[in-house]
Amino acid sequence: MMLRISNLREYETAYRKSVEEPENFWSEIAASFTWKKSWNKVVTWNFESPEVKWFEGGQLNITENCLDRHLSTHGDKTAIIWEPNNPSEKGRTLTYRELHEQVCMFSNVLLKNGAKKGDRICIYMPMVPEATIAMLACARIGAIHSVVFAGFSAQSLSDRIQDSDCSMVVTSDGAYRGAKEIPIKEVVDEALRVCPTVQRVIMLERTGANVRIDAERDRLWKEEMGKVDARHEAETMEAEDMLFILYTSGSTGKPKGVVHTCGGYMVYTAYTFQNVFQHRPEDIYWCTADVGWITGHSYIVYGPLLSGATTLMFEGIPTWPDAGRFWQTVDKHQVSVFYTAPTAIRALEAAGLDYVRPYTLNSLRVLGSVGEPINEEAWHWYHEHIGKGNCPIVDTWWQTETGGILISPLAGITPLKPSYATLPLPGIQPLLVDANGKEITGNGVEGNLCIRYPWPSILRTTYGNHERCRTNYFATYPGLYFTGDGCKRDEQGYYRITGRVDDVMNVSGHRIGTAEVEDAINQHPDVVESAVVGYPHAIKGQGIYAYVICTKEHENVDMLREEIKAVVNRVIGPIAKPDKIQIVTGLPKTRSGKIMRRILRKVAEGDVNNLGDTTTLLDPAVVDAIRDGAISG
Ligand code: PRX
Repeated sequence: MMLRISNLREYETAYRKSVEEPENFWSEIAASFTWKKSWNKVVTWNFESPEVKWFEGGQLNITENCLDRHLSTHGDKTAIIWEPNNPSEKGRTLTYRELHEQVCMFSNVLLKNGAKKGDRICIYMPMVPEATIAMLACARIGAIHSVVFAGFSAQSLSDRIQDSDCSMVVTSDGAYRGAKEIPIKEVVDEALRVCPTVQRVIMLERTGANVRIDAERDRLWKEEMGKVDARHEAETMEAEDMLFILYTSGSTGKPKGVVHTCGGYMVYTAYTFQNVFQHRPEDIYWCTADVGWITGHSYIVYGPLLSGATTLMFEGIPTWPDAGRFWQTVDKHQVSVFYTAPTAIRALEAAGLDYVRPYTLNSLRVLGSVGEPINEEAWHWYHEHIGKGNCPIVDTWWQTETGGILISPLAGITPLKPSYATLPLPGIQPLLVDANGKEITGNGVEGNLCIRYPWPSILRTTYGNHERCRTNYFATYPGLYFTGDGCKRDEQGYYRITGRVDDVMNVSGHRIGTAEVEDAINQHPDVVESAVVGYPHAIKGQGIYAYVICTKEHENVDMLREEIKAVVNRVIGPIAKPDKIQIVTGLPKTRSGKIMRRILRKVAEGDVNNLGDTTTLLDPAVVDAIRDGAISG
């Protein structure tokens, strides 16, 4: 067992050591894993280029640590519990031994189908165990997985496949999501029309939907698995070899491929999983995220499996067949650690306690929150009605780029404060800076959140474009990693993340760039220009408000709005559809042509009498028109 923190004093000691002797601190933790060869150098870094390397010279395969290592001690322990979309369908469980065998077999399938170490393989799948098996099989053969959330459109999928020149796609015929059936394979077929690098598609049959099979290109999961050996020797990887790419939105341009590497990611996700959730071997752990997001990567798949935990994968949605589904599932599987997003909590709170009352929830020990700031009301509801007042809530702050949790209470150890992510984990050195990059010291302050020292799972680059990584994260405040988040530090030194300070929105815990939505809206033939901002939304955290200038006047504005939403749905996917669309004749621009989003945000928030200084605008009259046409409610 790696260094486990079991009380506040141990946390303080670990924290101090991580700052004073980071190399000793991390090498002791790393030593608890299985390495094929030990490292020569714990860390090399500079935040200018940027360049970060952890455990250089070390060799490993992360799947030996997720799987092989557990076989002799707890091969028969359940690794994955799978709860299907429909509660009346029978679920599945896989022991560590079974999961190991499936991963070895699928590794052989990948190899037999031409995959090689270093290839990029796209995974576009529903929440089924095969998604995890495919990820681990990629890691086992040294291929780099790029999981794309199966709610993204064909265009988003092809953009991601092209950006990293994937050679293969692993997918399914269809997917179930609540009452809906989604034609996954059709989306893949459409995407692949413009992806010549993809030579092979391996398709799992999940729904039995009637799909087109390309005899040259497509193979069936089941048939391929029937042809291979159940043994596979894991490939030897360098600590700094790429493990995966995960695309995420930024304030400008198309989503970027965040790159994580094998050694550091392994060490950090396991360390944080075990300490934040205070993992116990008998836990049934359930993170409700999708494997298409970083939370799924780090805290459904890698962190739990590295720790020999039992991790639950849920295929469905929180509100189907009714809003009691989460709680029913907690009772059914006796879940002890439950980790979800504030948006789900707020939606289930709004549905009412009648959906909670039928369930005992008495297996729960720890609750978690991730993805967006949790408001106090939702925190208290979660604490009182789900945790029955005796489960600590770990409000975990982190990002796709950080690979793992950076600021969070340790369950049952750190005294809680609702809506605060509380204290940095060992190894994390946060600081707040003002707009000029000057550090804001002391407590009871607010600023932009930066980190001054690398941790093992910090992103290494953005795929194919290192300069973008530098300008996005390391150039705003030279020498620091800039998170893009605003943050308060209270009198006792606790951190509270207040939300993004850049042009990134957080809608139902999903990260969406305003520029991406604007680009999509602009694809409507009648749209001249658009500007998108986030606004406070009771359930989603933030809703999407779009201001749109059209070429001509439309008689049926409602129909136009629906068309614009349909375009966004087609270009990005349903998660990016604007909630409100205001047709305008002009946008508030400065004389240099820059849109003043501050004003648009204020109008979207309904704060129309407090727009601040508008004298620098090219045409201040535009603001009056926007204010008059604002969509409230
Ligand atoms: O604004 C922060 C918010 O989500 C952003 C990261 O989004 P993504 O890369 O998609 O990863 C989400 C899951 C880790 C952050 O910049 N965020 C995430 N967790 C929290 C949060 N905001 C407040 N509190 C949190 N616990």
